Amino acid sequence: MTAITIDLNGVRIADDVEPRQSLADFLRERCGLTATHLGCEHGACGACTVVVDGKATRSCLSLAVMSDGRVVLTLEGLRNDQIMDILRRQFHECHALQCGFCTPGMLIMARDILQRHQSPDANTVRHELSGQICRCTGYANIVKAVVAAGKDLAAAQAHALAGALAEAEALIQAEVQARVDDQVRAQEDAPPKPGTE
Ligand code: FES
Ligand code: FES
Repeated sequence: MTAITIDLNGVRIADDVEPRQSLADFLRERCGLTATHLGCEHGACGACTVVVDGKATRSCLSLAVMSDGRVVLTLEGLRNDQIMDILRRQFHECHALQCGFCTPGMLIMARDILQRHQSPDANTVRHELSGQICRCTGYANIVKAVVAAGKDLAAAQAHALAGALAEAEALIQAEVQARVDDQVRAQEDAPPKPGTE
């Protein structure tokens, strides 16, 4: 057995694992994180995709010991993630799943795409998702959902930026006004110059 320590979904965990145990088995069997699905178990389908140190990673091809000292995120750890919230809504609205088996891997990969591409078009999404296999949907609605999520994310970011700019402008105006008020008060409080009374 080998001792490992992982930052898993924001919680530091320590465990002893068999050197040949895959990260996928460790997550599902030792940690009970069953949103990570296992399809092919040899790197072809993408159902087992998780995030390791910020990168989308096939957990069936990684060993648990390789995650020692790393930061691992599974779908369970992305409940309060802005991009994942938007993706979940668009997958629902665009009917981008049927049996749902591929969906956790699709969502993790889609989030990775939206982190690297600003509002990607359908061709980019198709290309980037080419490593994820879905047996039910025919992919059209998945691509549609990711494109729509990219647009929603860009709009949300633009809105947040506009809000931050307006806030900064209001702060600057308040600061300028405070300085003007200080100067006016200083002039009013100043003793009259000789000969001006
Ligand atoms: S289960 Fe890992 S790629 Fe298919
Ligand atoms: S929704 Fe069934 S495999 Fe994708």
